[in-house]
Amino acid sequence: MSAVVNPFRYGGIVSGPHFAGREAELAALAADVRSGQNVLLAAPRRTGKSSLVAETLARVAREGVLAARIDCSSVTSEAELVEQLANAVYLGLARPLERAWRRATQMLAVIQPQVTFIVGGADHVTWTLGPGRHPHAVRTSLQAVLRLPGEIARARGRRVALVLDEFQDLPRLDPALPAVLRAAFQAQDEVAHVFLGSEEGVVRELFTTRDQAMFRLAKPMTLGPIRSDEFRSFLVSGLASAGVSVEEAAVARILSLTEGQPYYTQALASFTWLRAATARATIDPDLVMAAKGDVMRAESGLFAQMWAGLTANQRRVLVAVVADPDGASLADAWRTEHRLGSASSVQEGLAALRRRGLLQRGSPSGYAVPDPFLRQWVGSERGTG
Ligand SMILES: Nc1ncnc2c1ncn2[C@@H]1O[C@H](COP(=O)(O)OP(=O)(O)OP(=O)(O)O)[C@@H](O)[C@H]1O
Ligand SMILES: [Mg+2]
Repeated sequence: MSAVVNPFRYGGIVSGPHFAGREAELAALAADVRSGQNVLLAAPRRTGKSSLVAETLARVAREGVLAARIDCSSVTSEAELVEQLANAVYLGLARPLERAWRRATQMLAVIQPQVTFIVGGADHVTWTLGPGRHPHAVRTSLQAVLRLPGEIARARGRRVALVLDEFQDLPRLDPALPAVLRAAFQAQDEVAHVFLGSEEGVVRELFTTRDQAMFRLAKPMTLGPIRSDEFRSFLVSGLASAGVSVEEAAVARILSLTEGQPYYTQALASFTWLRAATARATIDPDLVMAAKGDVMRAESGLFAQMWAGLTANQRRVLVAVVADPDGASLADAWRTEHRLGSASSVQEGLAALRRRGLLQRGSPSGYAVPDPFLRQWVGSERGTG
């Protein structure tokens, strides 16, 4: 007898059977990719950005769209950026047609004679700077490799998407990089460049501030929770695989606790499934509440780490926003009630928390902590709940 496997996955990219809902977002992003429209997807951590893009690309791949992806948070130097881009381009765009790769790299050789790209095995490209390298060799190679997606799209007559995940980390590597990217990207109509960023404030600023190199280079897209009508059937069928009965109220409880935030929904469903499968117990709201404690315990280390990285002022502002989100403003009454400092220090705190993606502007005038479990952790563990 094969063991029944917990169907819920949290952490990392999900696609295929582990991906729920988002039909409208998938359709919108697919349409942009097909038409070569650059997109900026900025949303807090764990909202499902990378998964949405992966699922979209899997769908448009069936129509012949080719895609390459890098994660900028794992790049530690410009040379490494060249290598990761070359690898991604080779794996996603060129490999099935070695000829396209050879044509493209021949073009590179003309531009940059000191550089050699070697295809090592089926899934790897190494990149070396030859002897006599000059200081600009890395930059010139980067410019050349950034042009490759467009070259390949034209050579193969295919649509291409290039995904730069955690994009906010690139300008941190070198503030000059966005200008290099822009110069290359704006000459590639057949390539949809998809930029993802989890530090919402930081990444948005890069694309909306007039004096920034990325200004208006991509169409902004937002990503909210997954609609409960879309999530419900996914949850019901996954939970039922524990071999017990599932009360509708339990599913509703999961979605109200997580507010449809995808990571927490999967985490809470996963712990609920585990408890049900172990105890052979019906899945009811009480079981969900017990599983919620499991999620909280699992996450509290990360919350504590985040908390440790905040200044005293930022902590006070965060606690105040959690306690009283609608009132959050620079108004004297709000500052006095929550024992905050001057209007300018509060403003600084709000801005810093927003840049880190911990706070969003709420409606109509207040602020909100989008992460429902962090909100509860701050509220109860930090003495306001
Ligand atoms: N459409 C979806 N259906 C079901 N679960 C999802 C979906 N999208 C995301 N998730 C859940 O959320 C988790 C995080 O998703 P993902 O890594 O795509 O988010 P992200 O916004 O890219 O996060 P980060 O900013 O940390 O990179 C996944 O591991 C999965 O549990
Ligand atoms: Mg991601």
